[in-house]
Amino acid sequence: MLSSIVASQMDTHRPYGGVVPELASREHLRAVVPVVREAFAAAGLPYGSVDAIAVTQGPGLAGSLLVGITYATAMAWSLDVPLVPVNHLEGHIHAVLLEQRMRNEPEPEFPALALLVSGGHTLIVVAQSPTAFQIAGRTRDDAAGEAFDKVAKLLGLGYPGGPVIDTLAKSGNPHAVAFTAPKIKGNALDFSFSGIKTAVLRHVQARPELRVKEPALPAQATLDLIASFQHAVVDDLWTRMRAAAQKYDVRSVLVTGGVACNSALRQRFASLDGLPVYFPRPALTTDNAAMIAAAAFPHFKKGEFAKMDLAPAPQLALV
Ligand code: KG4
Ligand code: ZN
Repeated sequence: MLSSIVASQMDTHRPYGGVVPELASREHLRAVVPVVREAFAAAGLPYGSVDAIAVTQGPGLAGSLLVGITYATAMAWSLDVPLVPVNHLEGHIHAVLLEQRMRNEPEPEFPALALLVSGGHTLIVVAQSPTAFQIAGRTRDDAAGEAFDKVAKLLGLGYPGGPVIDTLAKSGNPHAVAFTAPKIKGNALDFSFSGIKTAVLRHVQARPELRVKEPALPAQATLDLIASFQHAVVDDLWTRMRAAAQKYDVRSVLVTGGVACNSALRQRFASLDGLPVYFPRPALTTDNAAMIAAAAFPHFKKGEFAKMDLAPAPQLALV
């Protein structure tokens, strides 16, 4: 990786307590040119000196995808290099492989079991190879990151909730509040996070003083609730991943997506049924373009290029 530039929009969305799609595409429009220029400059390369351009086709917000695709298409056309469309979720999985390459350490062995936990997705994936996937489990309602963000919002903790909860949970008792694990009919590897969100809401409705009103350190009871919530989510993710590891014949475990930054999650996944567990570093765990380039490489080698009329696919599935 020669350079990796990420433009954050957090400050734009923070006052609204979540991502506002219209503002997101406007911010992409504002950022795309300077970010690409900065990426070349930081790599010490003249602008445009690449063999191909990778771009996220989806899943994601239509307006944001459109800005990226329009820019990448125009750039590929003007430089006369191929355009490689990439699935955002495949990118998160390749972040783990990129991490190993950057460390000069062996890549995970396949088949691999991947947990993809982000603001929009919660998936258990069986990867037969870096490009062949099977979905073993998925959330029935909220994504794990969405649960962190919504719980933080209803506790008055601000946005984005994941990192705030991660920090505050360190000062709370994770066993103070017992949340019952959701009962999932059918596939036992599926997730559901709407129940725990509602359970936290009920706690706050019963004891409004749990809600944080000022930017001060929350009361101990709130910290305990936060720590217990995080513990329950992490435990649920780990338990279903272990069940998946027992169901499928896999040689390694990959944990990726924004929520994989979570320190309690990293601790909990330190071991899983004796399998080697791999994480990307935090900068490669949340959304970034390096993972998209990494995921594009096998497709580039196979000549899987997009035409100039490439369209965003906001609902694009992994398989
Ligand atoms: O992968 P990502 O950057 O974007 C999506 O593709 O969604 O993931 C963002 C999500 C947000 O919900 C954010 O709250 C969560 O990842 N997140 C965390 C942490 N850092 C980011 N959740 C828990 N603990 C963290 N440290
Ligand atoms: Zn993502």
